[in-house]
Order: sequence, then structure tokens, then C-alpha cells
Amino acid sequence: MFINCSDRELFILKKIANAAKDLQMPAYLIGGFVRDKIIGRKTKDADIVCLGDGIQLADKVAERFSPKPHVSFFKNFGTAQIKLSDLEIEFVGARKESYRSDSRKPAVEPGTIEDDQNRRDFTINALAISLNDADYGQLLDPFNGMEDLENKILRTPLEPAQTFSDDPLRMMRAIRFAAQLNFTIHPETFAAIGEMKDRIRIVSQERITDEFNKIMLTDKPSVGLDLLYKSGLLQLIFPEMVELAGAEYIDGKGHKDNFYHTLQVIDNICINTKDLWLRWAALLHDIGKPATKRFEEGHGWTFHGHEVVGARMVPKIFAKLKLPLSEKMKFVQKLVELHLRPISLTKENITDSAVRRLLFDAGEDIDALMLLCSADITSKNKYKVKRYQQNFQLVKERMQAVEESDRIRNWQPPITGEMIMQIFGLKPGRNVGIIKDAIREAILDGEISNNYDAAYQFMLRKAEELQLQPVG
Ligand code: CTP
Repeated sequence: MFINCSDRELFILKKIANAAKDLQMPAYLIGGFVRDKIIGRKTKDADIVCLGDGIQLADKVAERFSPKPHVSFFKNFGTAQIKLSDLEIEFVGARKESYRSDSRKPAVEPGTIEDDQNRRDFTINALAISLNDADYGQLLDPFNGMEDLENKILRTPLEPAQTFSDDPLRMMRAIRFAAQLNFTIHPETFAAIGEMKDRIRIVSQERITDEFNKIMLTDKPSVGLDLLYKSGLLQLIFPEMVELAGAEYIDGKGHKDNFYHTLQVIDNICINTKDLWLRWAALLHDIGKPATKRFEEGHGWTFHGHEVVGARMVPKIFAKLKLPLSEKMKFVQKLVELHLRPISLTKENITDSAVRRLLFDAGEDIDALMLLCSADITSKNKYKVKRYQQNFQLVKERMQAVEESDRIRNWQPPITGEMIMQIFGLKPGRNVGIIKDAIREAILDGEISNNYDAAYQFMLRKAEELQLQPVG
């Protein structure tokens, strides 16, 4: 049953089997490694369950390799790890678990291989392969996990409410696996998520976010995000997103459902990027819409300023979800704030100065912004989409032309604040800022050329207005 294993993996497994035999300790390969090999997915770690002390087995295995790999172990959990080539192998004694209602941490006692399979999250993750002489390579599949793998079904081995109540993170895992593997969650298992959803509160934010990001990194995150929404979990872990859902009608006029629009935008952007943070920008691009929604007589629904309000919400959302409050957050915030700019260029007469200004404001993130903006073009009307895309293409071409002649993208004005202070003998302060900004604006507006001499002359005129004279 060792399908899709490389020669190196087979060699390692044989060594583990021999070490287990020496210790007279039955051992099994179990969990994600078995699942992923069967479906031909890339694997990075392997779990070994033994009927005995996992740390002892890991030591014995390590001795069989030269040079001897380092064994890292956690005595409290009875687990040990060895890294061999690219494979991370974890050893643990088979266990039986019982859970308390207020914690994900189970009370653990030694058990049989069946006990160990019983306590696993999904039938497809409970598959085990024997590493023992008597039945080496035999598949142990007490819950028909193979059948579920074939039919692409996720279901819990035991009663689903029990499995989820024991460890509520598994509700997120069910949805994440469904999204990653393109599997369906069995109706009873899915219904149990709805029933047990409130138990997600005992799970740490870091773990929830980790699963959420795995969903964000799938080929089509809308699948997982919609399951989170329909199960009711999204309401608990990310209520701001749920606020986007639904379309209100007044006088027969409705607006689009911004939740499903957002999902479409994420799927669109995922065709072109694997970058998690650009995907996050797509997720949050309209997050300010519910707070800015108005119905204006004779005009319909408006969301004025939603990009500014949305950008302001980003740090709070990142903090709550324990996402990094770093450059990544600033990048997302910047994209949310600028997401309307490229498309709004198509609605007016595109001037070089508007293009330059956008290039300057977006800086090195202009390509990401253009991807977001293009992904944001969604409509049921395919002629509309086509027209928008054509206009958008025009903006892109214009941007390329302006960038080629003006090099604004990573541009800094030819006269810096330092220079201004030196020329006029100023200390840092308001006047320095006024002159500096005026030079930048004049260049971006095309009022003066983008070179030192033109900027110097302009600076002198501006300084005169402020009654400043060069020193020396
Ligand atoms: N497991 C579980 N409940 C959890 C986490 C893990 O029952 N909340 C079990 C499953 O049998 C799983 C195995 O532990 O297959 C290993 O867990 P992990 O490495 O987290 O997941 P994988 O299934 O290997 O998948 P991935 O690496 O994609 O997370």
C-alpha cells in the first residue's frame, strides 16, 4: 500500500520498521502522509504511531542513520521528531483521548491503534499502514476512508458533533480540506459544524487564522469562504466580512451583494497571484462599504469614501485576527485605499498628470494595484465587463508610456528636504514641508520638468512667496 512513495521514503520506512521490530513495538504510518500519497499530493511530514514510547522509537530510528539525525522531543506530550532529507517524521505512542468541555487539550492515556484512529478528525485522515512484519504495508481502514477518498468526501469517523466538540479547530480544518482538496463535506458532518460552531471560541486566534490563511491560499478561496459563511463560522471569526452580505432594495433599486462580489474578486486575483497579502487586499477591498452605504434619492445606492474607511479598518482587523502588523499590513491598507484609482482614471479624460500621480502614490506596488483593480471588474453583464477591461487596458498602456518617459514609479523629487534646509538655513519645520510638497506637486502636474534645474528655479520662486532667502 506504499503507493507513490519514493525509493528514499521506502528506505526510511523500512528502517523505522526494523527499529520498531528491535523494540518489539508495533508501529504504523498514519494520517496526512497516507492520505496525500494515495491522492498523489505533495507531502512534507509523516506521522508514525507506535504501541509504546514514541521518543524511544525515534531514538532507535535515529541510531540507524549515519550521521545520526537530531531527535527533538517533547517529554510532556510523548512525541519526538526527526528530520531526514526533506521529510519531517513525528513519532508518538498510540493514544486514547478524552476531552473537557473548556479546552482543546485532551486528557491522554495509552491506547490501541484502533483507539488512535477513532480520535482522528476525518475518515481520510484515519488511514494507517502497518510497518510490522506480520502485515507490512497493509492498509488499516476501519472507517472506509478509502471510499471517502475516492468519492472526495470529508466526514468524521465518529459522531460529528462529538469529533468537533472534542476539538473545534476541526471545523475549520474540514472547510480548509474541502477547499484545498476540492472535497465535499458530508451533509451530516457539515450540519454538525453549524450546531457546534460556538465552540470555536475555545480555539486560539492564531490557529483559526492559520487555517483561514490556508483557505486564502487555495486556488479558489471562494469555496472555503462560502462554506465558512454558510456554516455560520464566519459570523464568529470575521463578522466584518459577513456585513458585506446581502443586497438591500429601496424603490426597486438594489445594490450588488458585496460579499459574493468580494469572493469573485478573490477568485479572479488568485488566477494571477499566489501572494497571500495581495489576496488579503482583495478580501478587504470593499470592507468599508457597509459603513458608508447610503441611499440617495434619484441616484440610488452609494458607498462614497468606502476605500478610505476600509483602509482605516485594516489595522483593527489585522490586530484582531493576529495577522502581522508590519509592512504586509501597510501594503494591504495601501491597496484598499487606492483600489478605485486606476478604474476612476478610465471615467475621465486620462491626463498625464493623473497617471503620474497614481504612479507616484502606488510606487512599487503599482503592479499589485493593477491586478487588484482588474480583478475588481465583475458584472453579470459580459459586455460591461468587456468594455471596462478595454478601458482598463488603455489606462495600462498610458501608464506604461508615462512611466517610460518620466520614471515616476520609484521616483523621488530632485530636491530633498535636507537640501531645502541647507539652502535656506532652515531647521526642520513647516516651511520645509511646504516647499518640498510644492516641488513634488508641480512635477507630478507637469507644471515643471522633472530635473534639478527646473526644480531649483521653482523652489526659489516658492521660497520668495514665503519670504525666504537662500543663505550664503
Ligand atoms: N489530527 C486530528 N485533529 C486535528 C489535527 C490533526 O485528528 N485537529 C490528526 C489527523 O489524523 C491528521 C494528523 O493528525 O491527519 C496530522 O495532523 P496535521 O499534520 O495537522 O494535518 P495533516 O492531515 O497532515 O494535513 P496538513 O499538513 O495539510 O495540515
